[in-house]
Amino acid sequence: MTKSATNETGIHLKGRDFIGLVDYTAEEIQYLIDLAVELKRKNREGEVYQPLKGKTLGMIFEKSSTRTRVSFEVGMYQLGGHALFLSKNDLQLGRGETIWDTAQVMSRYLDGIMLRTFAHRTAIDLARGATIPVINGLTDLSHPCQALADYQTIYEKKGRLQGLKLAYIGDGNNMAHSLMIGGSKLGVNVAIATPEGYAPDRTIIETAKEMASQSGSQLSIVTDPKEAIVDADIVYTDVWASMGFEDEQKQREAAFAKFQVNEELVKYAKSDYLFMHCLPAHRGEEVSEGVLEGKHSIIFDQAENRLHAQKAVMASIM
Ligand code: CP
Ligand code: NVA
Repeated sequence: MTKSATNETGIHLKGRDFIGLVDYTAEEIQYLIDLAVELKRKNREGEVYQPLKGKTLGMIFEKSSTRTRVSFEVGMYQLGGHALFLSKNDLQLGRGETIWDTAQVMSRYLDGIMLRTFAHRTAIDLARGATIPVINGLTDLSHPCQALADYQTIYEKKGRLQGLKLAYIGDGNNMAHSLMIGGSKLGVNVAIATPEGYAPDRTIIETAKEMASQSGSQLSIVTDPKEAIVDADIVYTDVWASMGFEDEQKQREAAFAKFQVNEELVKYAKSDYLFMHCLPAHRGEEVSEGVLEGKHSIIFDQAENRLHAQKAVMASIM
């Protein structure tokens, strides 16, 4: 048994929300990663682990999802509990019931809520109104479940996190934000390259810089993809137009034209670099088919780890 499984670490997360990695210490994030690795092993070996027997997670979706929906539902089932899929259109939320009332009412039935929404404020308000843990399943500002699974994946593949370089090439979006915060806390050197006008949120940059200085890592924000990717251990990209920004697709295709992760660009990364993408991907846009499908790509390991990382979160906080 690992330390995390026996909880000799002294880390207790029960009752906490999981809105952003910013709210968790490096030790707590590492604890969740270790637990995710342990739960993955149990899962592979067919060992039953059901600490959430009799518990129910409500999953509110205001945006589409494949990975988040399926991995939370399956994860909850594997932990012995049950998950309810709640689309905004089917809830009174879609007809104007307030977040506060929704949070209060749901807290009387459920043991946890996962929310995927647009405004980050909605996730914060839901967590404030609820008396049960709330998990951020993606907002316009952040995607902490994905970043947690990603750092678990990197840890498994490279055997460490501290001192590695992660280059993120593309839009300064929710994924960039969560990778910056998580990496800066965990001692990963994060280099972000975005076109002018698509840089990450200024407050997130400030926060991540402060965290990087505490962990002794580097954070750089540039506009030249080559500069960011030099000697990278990890090359990461995401769609150019995130959910909610579809109207800007054409204009973004022009702005991001030089930011495609392709065979030419990855020559600047380390020879044993790993390619990552949170998915869904647009082949031939943010990434070439060859890189996405190539031998350095670990995109499906990442996707799988959503299951294990979220189980670690749910088992710890619910
Ligand atoms: N990466 C991710 O969150 O995928 P879905 O949008 O399919 O949930
Ligand atoms: N940045 C993407 C991530 C999808 C998982 C989006 O928000 O659409």
